[in-house]
Formats: sequence, structure tokens, C-alpha cells
Amino acid sequence: MIEKDSNRLISSKLKNESEASDENSLRPRKIEEFIGQTKNKDNLKIFIEAARKRKEPLEHILLYGPPGLGKTTLSCIIANEMGVSIRTTSGPAIERAGDLASLLTNLKPNDVLFIDEIHRLKSTVEEVLYSAMEDFKLDIILGKGPSARSMRLSIAPFTLIGATTKVGNVSSPLRDRFGSVTRLDFYTIDEIAAIIERSAKILKVQIDAGGLRELASRARFTPRIANRLLKRVRDFAEVSFDGVITEEVAKEALSKMHVDEKGLDKTDYELLKLLIEKFEGGPVGLSTLAAALSEETQTIEDVYEPFLIQQGLLTRTARGRVATRAAYEHLGVPWSEERQGSLL
Ligand SMILES: Nc1ncnc2c1ncn2[C@@H]1O[C@H](COP(=O)(O)OP(=O)(O)O)[C@@H](O)[C@H]1O
Ligand SMILES: [Mg+2]
Repeated sequence: MIEKDSNRLISSKLKNESEASDENSLRPRKIEEFIGQTKNKDNLKIFIEAARKRKEPLEHILLYGPPGLGKTTLSCIIANEMGVSIRTTSGPAIERAGDLASLLTNLKPNDVLFIDEIHRLKSTVEEVLYSAMEDFKLDIILGKGPSARSMRLSIAPFTLIGATTKVGNVSSPLRDRFGSVTRLDFYTIDEIAAIIERSAKILKVQIDAGGLRELASRARFTPRIANRLLKRVRDFAEVSFDGVITEEVAKEALSKMHVDEKGLDKTDYELLKLLIEKFEGGPVGLSTLAAALSEETQTIEDVYEPFLIQQGLLTRTARGRVATRAAYEHLGVPWSEERQGSLL
């Protein structure tokens, strides 16, 4: 049994309400404060300026990418830069078409409606969204049975910003109605360091260049994780040291918290160890691996594997999962070219 993702220090998902409010205080409000994603930012700036000049709403935008990379943040920034209000909801929160209708009729001209996890919209709700996005019209059915009639209502022009971690699960009629589909990428270590530096200023934490480098390299290229590590290491620095985060403090704190120099935690090690020790490095089928870890296959694929794959420690082959040579080296297990080399 491996640790639940929500308990992991390096989980890229939001943990709870208290972390959500912490995040709000660190959220950049202006596009200039949003670090990295330069190409996306440049494009957005142009769209925003053009829409403002025409006094029209911004075109609908679909943002996708792994958790913690700034989708919610960017949506708030867009509304802010457009000088409009943002209404926030999520796919699973909209239960009936009527709920969506009431959200839409309450928008003021050019406002932003932000739907997080948009891939989880019910199809009955999604269908109402189509005409709203295209013509700013709502098709509503009044009554039931033979006496039911449909009515078209106009709504204020608005911008829909959808966010998703699974763009493949967004239906194509919905995807086609977005004027722009933008992918957020993982950040570079320098960008993560800049994000940590900014957050440290806001939180009034002292951190030196060595501390910054150490934290940045273990944050799995994800701003949410970077900010979380900063807060945890700050606590450690205050209790065990004089409050300043140096390279030494960061190293000691993070090794106590079982986050290694690549940002791998105990769970990552358990998964790789299992693969190497029990299955001789693979290939092992996903369902076998899942059974051995007492986890669901979907969770392994969506939550546990992506970072290991991105780090080149694990690969998915036609015959199953395989631990790479880098994984053997990282775990300090001897690698045999004849045994494992032929698998990759
Ligand atoms: N480019 C960035 N610059 C500075 N901080 C960022 C950036 N992207 C994300 N963050 C911070 O990381 C945290 C998570 O971002 P969020 O927008 O909630 O991610 P997502 O919605 O993609 O899961 C927020 O607290 C935000 O302040
Ligand atoms: Mg979000």
C-alpha cells in the first residue's frame, strides 16, 4: 500500500481549504508578475489589448496542463487585465442545465466565467454551453412532457475560460468552440527559483541563493509544490536554525521530509523499488503493478507515473512498465545491460 497522493508533500494537487487561502495570498494579480510561460503570456497580452480596443469580450480560452502550473492564477489575471469580474465554478459543481443558466444570466457584459475541471461537465450541461459560447443565447426548455416548449434567451457577451488537466477528455464540439487552446508547460528551474524568490518576499522569509537553488531543484518544476516546500522549509528554518533558508538548511529540511534532490519522495521510491526488486525492472503490466501497490490503475497512470516518466526513470512500453537505467542508478541498484538493456 503506498501513501495516498493527498498526503504527499510533493503532491501537485491542492490539499485543503487552508492551503487554498495561502495560495490566494501568493497569487500574482498582474500579467507582469506571472513568471515564465513567456509565449503564452505574449499571445494573451495581444488578445487582451485587441479585445479591450474593440470593447468586446475576450475570445473563449481553454487552458490545460498538469495541476499546480497556474491555470487558475492565469484566469484571474486575464479577468483583472480585462477590467472585468470573474465568476468561478467547476465542471462537477454544475449539476443541472438550470445551474449553468443562472450563472450565465448573472454575468455582466464581457465578464469571465471560469469553469475548472471542465472535462467533467455533464453532457446535458455542456449542450447548453454550446449556443451560449457561440451566439450568447440560452436555449431553455420550459415545462415537461407534451406541453414543454423551448425558449431562446439572450445573455450578455462573456468569455468562458475552461481549465483542465485532461484535455483529451474534453469533447471535440466543446473544444472547437474555444478561440484559443493553450497548454501550460512545466517551468524551468530558474523560473521556479524566481517564483520562490517572489513568494519569499511576500511571506517575509529570508532565503539565500543556495537555498533558492536547492528548493527550486526539488519542486518538480511546479509552482504549487515550490510554494509548499518554501513554507515547510521556512518552519524548519525558524525552529531549528536562525530563520534563514540556506543551502544547508534546505538540504537538511528536505531530507527529513523525504524529498530527494530530484524531488522524488518515498512513494516514488516505493514504486521504483517494487518495479526493480519484485519485477526485475519490468516489463510489468499496469494492472499487476496496481495490484501490488493496492492502488487503482487510473491513479497510477494519472498521479504516480507522469513525473517518473518525465524524469526518464520509468517508461511505458507495449509489454508494460519498465524501470530505466537512470532509475537503477538513482536507486543505487546495479544495472545489467543483458537483462534490462534489451527491454528498452
Ligand atoms: N507563473 C507563476 N508565477 C508565480 N506564481 C505562480 C505561477 N503559476 C502558479 N503560481 C502559484 O502556484 C500556485 C498554484 O497555481 P494555480 O493557478 O492554482 O494552479 P492550477 O490552477 O494550474 O492548478 C498559486 O499559489 C500561484 O500563486
Ligand atoms: Mg486550479
